[in-house]
Amino acid sequence: MDAIDLRSDTVTWPTPEMREAMAHAEVGDDVWGDDPTVKRLEALAAERMGQEAGLFVASGTMGNLIAILTHCRPGDEMIVGKAAHTFKYEVGGAAALGGVHPYTIPVQADGTLDLDDIRHAIRDRSDIHYPLTRLVELENTQGTVGGIPLTPEYTRAVRALCDEHGLLLHIDGARIWNAAVALGVDVSELAGPADSITFCLSKGLCAPVGSVLCGPAEFIDRARRTRKMLGGGMRQAGILAAAGIIAIEKMTGRLHEDHANARRLAEGLSQIDGVLVDVERVCTNMVFFSLDESVPFDARTLAARLEAEHNIKLDVTGERNFRAVTHYWITPERVEVTLQAIREAL
Ligand SMILES: Cc1ncc(COP(=O)(O)O)c(C=O)c1O
Repeated sequence: MDAIDLRSDTVTWPTPEMREAMAHAEVGDDVWGDDPTVKRLEALAAERMGQEAGLFVASGTMGNLIAILTHCRPGDEMIVGKAAHTFKYEVGGAAALGGVHPYTIPVQADGTLDLDDIRHAIRDRSDIHYPLTRLVELENTQGTVGGIPLTPEYTRAVRALCDEHGLLLHIDGARIWNAAVALGVDVSELAGPADSITFCLSKGLCAPVGSVLCGPAEFIDRARRTRKMLGGGMRQAGILAAAGIIAIEKMTGRLHEDHANARRLAEGLSQIDGVLVDVERVCTNMVFFSLDESVPFDARTLAARLEAEHNIKLDVTGERNFRAVTHYWITPERVEVTLQAIREAL
């Protein structure tokens, strides 16, 4: 990977060990239940998440969509953060394909949905004017507010609220391993309380493709049918699952390096005149920063210059705003190169 690509952790290439494992993966037709490597990945994922069963899916978007379609019926309502990936960036799939009505509530600065906001969003079942509230969805880490991890205590509190009202809980845990590492807890403490959880293999964990949806065995049986309906039944998918196994067994153990690099980047940025960054909000692998009014050009101009002159890529998130995401291919040296380039440009 030549470019210093900080746009996302989705840009990660598979590691040499993954490519090797993919080349030699034992495979079969997974739609027929014949692929031993996919089965191994699904069992491993479920066990780590503290759930009964797993389902290998093409993407995080597909995992979330399958969960929603499997939990809900058309006309049901799902309580979800206004800034949640599922609501903002998944093409409205829950509504378009599942007829599921999103009830959006604010995402707080700490990444949580306020418990009172959830409570107020739950519909009165006795009033026939309302859709039926079926599902609450959380995102951990919460990407749009800075990659903030949600704690086990908070997750359990939402679980309790769901139980009180007979609701289901789905977690979009695209980066739940980052949350577990940042909080120093076992990932099952974050994922176990949910009725379903999707996590991504293809972000900071470097696998080329795929996510795993986990939940109770009976739910995963139904989810397998939904996956097929969406065209997501894959055949010799063990080639992809082989990389996913390495993602879980090896790559989760190094995420603290990405977090340290993100912190290093944020601290360096905070020393550059013209840059605004809240170092204390950097908990995982994401750094959000902006240019102050003293800088006579906008974020797009700076990003274009960094790319043209230094082969450094940043995600421009607003007129003066950036997001930078650290990952396996961003070493401490590459953080220094990035800081030097921004310093020079400003
Ligand atoms: C929080 C979150 N959830 C879900 C997804 C969707 O994952 P995918 O791109 O694999 O569909 C992403 C992707 O960036 C994400 O950041």
